[in-house]
Amino acid sequence: MKYKRLMRMALIFCLLGGCSSPAPAASETPADPAAVSEEDSGRVLIVYFSRAGENWEVGNVAKGNTQIAVEIIAGETGYDTFRIRTVREYPLSYQEMLDVAAEEQKNNERPELREEIENFDDYGTILLGYPIWWADMPMAVYTFLESYDFTGKTVYPFNTHAGSGEAGTVSKIREVIPDADVHDGLAITGKDTQNDPDKVRGILQGWLRENGLTAGE
Ligand SMILES: Cc1cc2nc3c(=O)[nH]c(=O)nc-3n(C[C@H](O)[C@H](O)[C@H](O)COP(=O)(O)O)c2cc1C
Repeated sequence: MKYKRLMRMALIFCLLGGCSSPAPAASETPADPAAVSEEDSGRVLIVYFSRAGENWEVGNVAKGNTQIAVEIIAGETGYDTFRIRTVREYPLSYQEMLDVAAEEQKNNERPELREEIENFDDYGTILLGYPIWWADMPMAVYTFLESYDFTGKTVYPFNTHAGSGEAGTVSKIREVIPDADVHDGLAITGKDTQNDPDKVRGILQGWLRENGLTAGE
């Protein structure tokens, strides 16, 4: 019964966003033309949303898939990180989480966030990481984007997913923060972050190089 429900979810994911991932292969790592200098690297901030607990294809995880990707990026670059956390605690159960997320999306909610970034102005570049929830970003990411002035900021979105790719979220980010320079996104399979972190590290290293974000090189 549970298996059938999961299979139905898989089908919905594919229908909503397609099942291909635009993530580049680990070998696609061109030379870095403009690495961020050490002096400038403090101006890059990784902002992310991630949820631990039961999830699609990975079981009950202590650390969310997006968080694993974030830790790899932070380990490679030394960039600061900020986690988007909601005042409301989300359920650990996958099925319950699906229902809560669907309700928040249906009501176009803006969940209240626990913390804010006091020195947001110090950062010129934001790497924005999030999972796909119902072919969209978690509504808390909208709360985050609407809470700050992104004028003149450069944003690099990346996401983890279970088949939907970026699911049109980059266009949505561009709509919400039109004054930012929002680059195309990087989509990573959530399952790979848990089961094949070396593959994900290779993908992220290539992405950082392609975008001149390899601090300290
Ligand atoms: C509420 C909810 C809705 C989801 N909806 C989708 C979806 O529409 N498409 C998809 O590919 N994956 C979907 N997933 C799977 C997550 O995007 C995927 O497991 C992601 O890696 C989770 O990241 P996290 O562990 O950092 O939260 C959903 C997961 C949850 C919990």
